Amino acid sequence: MNISIIGSGYVGLVTGSCFAELGNRVICADNDSKKIEGLKKGIIPIYEPGLKELVMSNMKKKRLRFSSSVKEAVLESEVIFIAVGTPSLENGEADLTYIENVARNIAQNLNGYRLIVEKSTVPVETGKWVKQTIATYIKRKVKFDIASNPEFLREGQAISDFMHPDRIVIGVESKAARDILVNLYSPLKAPLVITDIKSAELIKHASNSFLATKISFINAISRICEKVGADVVEVAVGLGLDKRIGPSFLNAGLGYGGSCFPKDLDAFVTISEKLGYDFGLLKAARQINQEQKAFFLSKIRDALWILKDKNVGVLGLSFKPNTDDIRNAPAIEIIQALQIEGAKIKAYDPSSMDKAKAVLGKKVKFCKDAYEVCRDSDCLLLVTEWDEFKELDFLRVKKLLKRPLVIDGRNIYDHKRMEKLGFSYVGIGRRR
Ligand code: UGA
Repeated sequence: MNISIIGSGYVGLVTGSCFAELGNRVICADNDSKKIEGLKKGIIPIYEPGLKELVMSNMKKKRLRFSSSVKEAVLESEVIFIAVGTPSLENGEADLTYIENVARNIAQNLNGYRLIVEKSTVPVETGKWVKQTIATYIKRKVKFDIASNPEFLREGQAISDFMHPDRIVIGVESKAARDILVNLYSPLKAPLVITDIKSAELIKHASNSFLATKISFINAISRICEKVGADVVEVAVGLGLDKRIGPSFLNAGLGYGGSCFPKDLDAFVTISEKLGYDFGLLKAARQINQEQKAFFLSKIRDALWILKDKNVGVLGLSFKPNTDDIRNAPAIEIIQALQIEGAKIKAYDPSSMDKAKAVLGKKVKFCKDAYEVCRDSDCLLLVTEWDEFKELDFLRVKKLLKRPLVIDGRNIYDHKRMEKLGFSYVGIGRRR
């Protein structure tokens, strides 16, 4: 099929190159011509394992190309995916300006039947507005369909998530649209959920909100564990073995960050309010998430007493491992809070140092590895659970630290082993 993806950000690029890999001819378009020029030369603006290889090989096979013209994208494809950003406005609402712009742009260039698919995460009823916008601005008398096909890609494993999805959600209102999308996804082996557009839109917000709530739930349990001396890791194992609950997203720690969960919860709470429903459950999940960071900071104060002029080493800056993304990363908030209290920060992350430098500036000493972070630090904070931090040489770490204190925000170390090695070890919700 001839496909175009409008918006060559994270979702657009991954989706476009994966559709090309499945044998389609894909145009990835974006109004950022600098980005498009870079992509044409193989410069990938984001870090995602395997993406560069996929882009390069599909460009070579002439199945993938890049364009800064929406017109070209519209004229040369049967299916147009909208994958532009939907950032948060100050009140938490999703900013749909880019979606509206693209819808108008598509309308002005339509010259025959097209299927226009929402891929961006949008509040329920956006499809209705996109349809109305296109109908208003359309120039020629041609037919078109709207569909919703939300993505469930995780940063760091997006390509594998695309190729091996748990499910494919297709929200449509015509047989033509349904047939096109079913055909497009036929190479992938996954259950299809075919529904109406509003239900598809809701599935996306509901999924992210449910997962975020699951994380906040276990984080709330971790607080109770600490009060009574129980162990949240063991509680999570006992909970997760119930097939109705499942073991994933039950890791207590510093809570969720990134560009999706915080934004999507805000947007879902706001759209619910607009629709006349007070989504108290999600508000509580958000609040618990915020409290986890304050709780972690209180653990640091409990251990170090006065923070002023203390050297604090931070391992991990990205919001989760295997990405360079620092959007809503707990590390940034924690570092800034520690700096306000006068602590001196040294930090290391395997991939997000440049991005972190741009936000945190010169007041943080960025180190070449975890061991340099440890040198002369009064305590070591584990903030993002990269694999390389799981395999540290702790005898070396102990020699380098001024004081053998490790505060583990992701519960990746075994506290008995750490104590045996002579560390004071503090986790989240762990039995002492
Ligand atoms: C999330 C969803 O998992 C994807 O399905 C979805 O497509 C994507 O948002 C999106 O809407 O675009 P992502 O933000 O890449 O993907 O990250 P996750 O792997 O889901 O992790 C989210 C956050 O939860 C991270 O900060 C992680 O550290 C935290 N987390 C996760 C926990 O604190 N505990 C857990 O047990 C699991």
